[in-house]
Amino acid sequence: MIISATTDFRAAAKAKLPPFLFHYIDGGSYSESTLRRNETDLQNIALKQKVLKDMSHLSLEHDVFGEKFSMPIALSPVGLTGMYARRGEVQAAKAAENKGIPFTMSTVSVCPIEEVTPQIQRPMWFQLYVLKDREFMKNVLERAKLAGVTTLVFTVDMPTPGARYRDMHSGMSGPRAEVRRVLQAMQHPSWALDVGLLGKPHDLGNISAYRNKTTKLGDYIGWLGDNFDTSISWKDLEWIREYWTGPLIIKGILDVDDAKDAVRFGADGIVVSNHGGRQLDGVMSSAQALPTIADAVKGDLKIFVDSGIRNGLDVVRMLALGADCTMLGRSYIYALAAGGQQGVEHLLDLYEKEMRVAMTLTGAKSISEIGNHSIARIA
Ligand code: FNR
Ligand code: LAC
Repeated sequence: MIISATTDFRAAAKAKLPPFLFHYIDGGSYSESTLRRNETDLQNIALKQKVLKDMSHLSLEHDVFGEKFSMPIALSPVGLTGMYARRGEVQAAKAAENKGIPFTMSTVSVCPIEEVTPQIQRPMWFQLYVLKDREFMKNVLERAKLAGVTTLVFTVDMPTPGARYRDMHSGMSGPRAEVRRVLQAMQHPSWALDVGLLGKPHDLGNISAYRNKTTKLGDYIGWLGDNFDTSISWKDLEWIREYWTGPLIIKGILDVDDAKDAVRFGADGIVVSNHGGRQLDGVMSSAQALPTIADAVKGDLKIFVDSGIRNGLDVVRMLALGADCTMLGRSYIYALAAGGQQGVEHLLDLYEKEMRVAMTLTGAKSISEIGNHSIARIA
């Protein structure tokens, strides 16, 4: 692995978590070629050094849908966050708030919306998956509105989960999974106490709140496959729009025509993403897909990007390729697993410092001054 702000947190997360959880986070689909490509394509982008430009006043601030944020980074939605640290969604949301960036809660979070929002001052973002049970969608959108969620991130690249072979090997799914998980937990006592015992209930909080009964995690991967709706189409977006009038971001765009459709549909943003290489292995990296999409739709909606970002330099690279804002998945999840809220805040401090150095030495005094001219070539 390439040395980055993320590397040490990943190693600490690996030591702390039972393997079934570590590999669920760390892994991708099939042979994990897109997962690797996400990182290496970014690394291969050379930054262009510029000197002697009086960089004493530097601003990382930027606006998203009328709100000011401290830097162009948001936390991507990640399922089961409450299994990696005790009530992990609450800890991540607090870290994001303290660092002035948005936190996005996943539909398949452990903590329900109503547990997190009273513990933070700023509104959070919520990510929506389409389940076959459409009444759930209405219910969860209603609850999100009531809880003061401002922005909806609608993920469209997971009508069905990609084949994650690591999960079969690690005990996340597959034969005797539950027994293997208990044995692994026993070998990771600090996790077993902190999260396994004191971090209960372990279930899909948002779904349980709707069904009024626990949604057990015994066969989580099977549950995703059984309940996600493969029939989703642009028609569903129209339906979601009826229930959601606030800003709407479509997550999981890699194709320029899909991006143009998102504009036509009236989306407020897109996330250029391949789900961190967890869905269709072999697709383009986000860094590869981004420039064409940015050429076509920049200015028509906000362009977010994730997949492969591991440090502040990667953030600058993605902005140079045309993104308005970046999002972090594994990078912050490793830090959360390793050090909870403090771990995430530490990680975000490192990102900020790295961005400041990169901006100082590429001659960009503000986020809007980062552009194609900031990178020399794509190897
Ligand atoms: C995810 N991702 C994800 N996306 C989403 O829209 N809803 C979800 O519930 C999840 N769950 C999830 C779990 C785990 C363990 C990971 C690692 C990722 C995808 C996530 O939002 C994001 O797109 C990727 O993580 C970005 O890639 P990097 O930053 O991890 O390389
Ligand atoms: C994942 C889902 C939950 O990537 O988005 O595992």
